[in-house]
Parts: sequence; structure tokens; C-alpha cells
Amino acid sequence: MKLQDIINRTPIPQPWAEGEKIPWNDPDFSQRMLAEHLSQRHDAASRRNDLLDAQVAWIHEWVLSGNPTQILDLGCGPGLYTSRLARLGHTCVGIDFSPASIGYAKASAAKEGLACRYRLADIRQAEYGAGFGLVMLLFGEFNVFRMEDARLILRQAHAALAPGGLLLLEPHTLEAVAEIGKTLPHWVSHSSGLFSPQPHLLLTEAYWDETRQIATERYFVIDAAAGEVARHAASAQGYSPAEYEQLLVESGFAEVTIHPSISGGMDARQAAFCGIVARRGSEQ
Ligand SMILES: C[S@@+](CC[C@H](N)C(=O)[O-])C[C@H]1O[C@@H](n2cnc3c(N)ncnc32)[C@H](O)[C@@H]1O
Repeated sequence: MKLQDIINRTPIPQPWAEGEKIPWNDPDFSQRMLAEHLSQRHDAASRRNDLLDAQVAWIHEWVLSGNPTQILDLGCGPGLYTSRLARLGHTCVGIDFSPASIGYAKASAAKEGLACRYRLADIRQAEYGAGFGLVMLLFGEFNVFRMEDARLILRQAHAALAPGGLLLLEPHTLEAVAEIGKTLPHWVSHSSGLFSPQPHLLLTEAYWDETRQIATERYFVIDAAAGEVARHAASAQGYSPAEYEQLLVESGFAEVTIHPSISGGMDARQAAFCGIVARRGSEQ
């Protein structure tokens, strides 16, 4: 793209039409993103260690009652949950389409001899396997899928669970998705950053589709030397608590409970999310 293409852009983007999501699966981007996942300066890509530890303790003690089981982590990133859960006696499988994250997760598991296996795959197309006691999809990633893909993922998660097994979602609240869509346009300059290793300007704008409850963000990355523009976009579907429950029940789940967080309490670092636990009926 050229600078003029920014001027000529469609004023209001169609959700998902300008990009499915930020390019997690691009090898170079994923390498830069891995540094953000592991950073202890912020909770932007993954949580910092203290919060990860608190969330894993809640999953182990409260969701799983301390009983070792087989866990499938969809969008597992660098394996920060699976590695901790494996140390507590669980056997874990992680699926993610970020090459750098899966490479890091595999190397960490091999180094420590953890009961974790990882697969580089898109969770919209991957084979999930079967017989899991827990399937989880954390840190708001559920919302970034179109509704038909979210339904597909839930159906596959249901099929991957053993009878009586549990699903754990950590989606965004509706209010948090609306806030993303209502963010005012802004820009920053970077000598090197997540979207480019070269000096660039990053222009961000967002839209909120009130009727469809969808936030869409656009990122224009302007290379400082060449003036060339790369565009990325991501959309997020908002759901009310009742809509989450309906979606889960339609996908075959029962006993849906919604919690303020996945660490048992409420704090500012988790205020944009909630925790949802649901069960695959034992009769299925
Ligand atoms: C916000 S990060 C969270 C990573 C991890 N759950 C954590 O909290 O540390 C979202 C993850 O989902 C992965 N992801 C997004 N869409 C995906 C897809 N369609 N298939 C597989 N992985 C996907 C990304 O690569 C990224 O690792």
C-alpha cells in the first residue's frame, strides 16, 4: 500500500474483511511476538509470571479439584499454562499457529522433561484428538474469531472432551470489546517494534459496530525509509453473559458457570475478561 491508500480507505471497515487477525503465524512477526509473551514488563501478549501462577493454581485446585488429567490448550502460545500444569501432574497438548511460540514451547518441555506435546496448526482446521479432561482457550482469543468459527471451535472442543470433561474459556466481557471499538485513533513512532524491525510509524484506528457488537481495529505500519504502508486488521465479537451461555448450550455443553476471572478473584489486570466453565454431559 501507498500513503494515498490510507487517505482513500473505506471510512468504516467491514469486520474481518481487511484481515482475520494480527499476523501471529508470520514467522518474523511470531519471533518478535515471542519476546512480548515472555516480557515481565507488561501483560499484553501473555500474563506476567505472578498472574500466570495464580491462574494456574485456580485451574488446578478449583476447576480440576487437584486431580491430574489430560489438558488441551487451544492457542497455547509459548506454553506458559501447559508447562505449569504439567509440573502439577497433568498431561498437556498445546495447539497454536505461531511458529516461534510452538518452537519455544517444545524446547522448554524437552529441556524440563515435561509431559507436554505441541502442534503447529490453525485451531479452525486442526484435529483436536479425544479423551481430554479439560479443553481451554484463554486470554480473550475466543472473541477474535468470527461467530461461525467460534461455533466450530466449541463443537470440536466438545468432541475432544471425555464424557464429563470441562471446557474453560477466558473471553472478553462485552464492555471490554466495546471499549476496544471505541478507542480514539492514535499513532506512535518506533525505531523497531512488534509490527516491523525497521523505523516506522504505527497508526491505529478502531470502530464499534453497535448492532452486531463487533470491534474492528486497523493498524497502518508506515516504513520510515520507503514510505510504504502495510495494513493489518483484527475484529472481535462481543457477547453478553447470556449469549455466551446460549452459545455453549447450543454446542452441547451443560452446567455453564461464569466467574469474574480465572484466578478466583477480581483485579484490574483481569477486568476485561471473565472465566467460563462448562461441562460435556456424561451421557454423551
Ligand atoms: C493472546 S495470545 C495468548 C497465548 C496464550 N494462551 C497465553 O495466554 O499465554 C493468543 C494466541 O492464540 C494464537 N492463535 C490465534 N489464532 C489462532 C488460530 N486460528 N489457530 C491457532 N492459534 C491461534 C496466537 O498465535 C497466540 O499464540
